[in-house]
Amino acid sequence: MPKKREEGLSLEGVGEATLRKLQELGVASIRHLSEFTVEELVDAGIEPERATKILRQAAALEGIHSLTLRELKQRQHQVFKTGVAEFDEKTPWGGVREAYIYEFAGEFGTGKSMLAHQLAVAAIAQGFTQRVVYVDTENTFNPVLIESIAKRFGVDFERLADAVVVVKPKTVFYLEQFVKFELPRHLEEGCKLLIIDTITALYRAEFPGREMLAARQQRIHYLIDWLRRHSHTYGLTSILTNQVMDVPEAFSVGKRPAGGNVLAHAVNARFMMVRPNKAKMEGYMWPLDVPGMSPDAQIRYQITSEGLV
Ligand SMILES: Nc1ncnc2c1ncn2[C@@H]1O[C@H](COP(=O)(O)OP(=O)(O)OP(=O)(O)O)[C@@H](O)[C@H]1O
Ligand SMILES: [Mg+2]
Repeated sequence: MPKKREEGLSLEGVGEATLRKLQELGVASIRHLSEFTVEELVDAGIEPERATKILRQAAALEGIHSLTLRELKQRQHQVFKTGVAEFDEKTPWGGVREAYIYEFAGEFGTGKSMLAHQLAVAAIAQGFTQRVVYVDTENTFNPVLIESIAKRFGVDFERLADAVVVVKPKTVFYLEQFVKFELPRHLEEGCKLLIIDTITALYRAEFPGREMLAARQQRIHYLIDWLRRHSHTYGLTSILTNQVMDVPEAFSVGKRPAGGNVLAHAVNARFMMVRPNKAKMEGYMWPLDVPGMSPDAQIRYQITSEGLV
């Protein structure tokens, strides 16, 4: 594998040994290289001075882009429809917007995994992306569900068969390695959508309890920061589902997305999903923090065997 990736990697004044080290790491291209920090290259065994030199070149080759306010305003963003009618009607972009990080938090059975499956199908059906990477941390990915959602969206299952890539990381370490070194290969090959169902599961298992809170927060933040880098570099859209935690309130118990403040700050659009009556196949979501959307808005949905409508 590394052989193929090295094609885009040639840097002036950087010796064979260092280039080999970068390739062994899985650095796919100059573009990919430009996402790293000096500290990360030093951690990977490259001398500090050399790391600075390498990244200076990568930045110069990649260019540092700036936009005027006018350009920023005129910029068109690609969007795909989710198939959840009220979501597509009521959200500011009329669907899911490119280069954004979304979070959908909710209790068990609210439809998070269903939505995750559905977005994978919808994005491919509408040509938003050629490939979807689906990170399944809870082992709930269901090809049969993909098939029935595909029927509804009128996509041939054969078209999805190679376009949906499922990854099941065992640990936080695997997840980090994947996002830093493997995912960029997919991004270079036309993947614009990443789904992680759920983002906090591995972290809650590995960093349990209050004593580990700071470490857990830091590691989640680190991962989300890589998603931000990919969004910036490759225009990647990320969909994160999230579990909720009980929070004691004055006279009751409230629910809040797990992962605390780090997620709140790093995610571009956060929604809470609620299913008040588990006997009914319906629920609603509301914007916990979505730019341009009032927190009073309610997006109602039905849960069907072909996804959320
Ligand atoms: N293939 C299917 N056909 C019909 N209903 C389904 C299907 N898969 C799941 N459901 C139902 O849809 C509802 C939502 O399930 P989903 O797995 O999306 O919940 P979730 O929010 O991901 O929950 P969890 O936190 O347990 O992962 C559940 O009531 C479930 O029974
Ligand atoms: Mg689930």
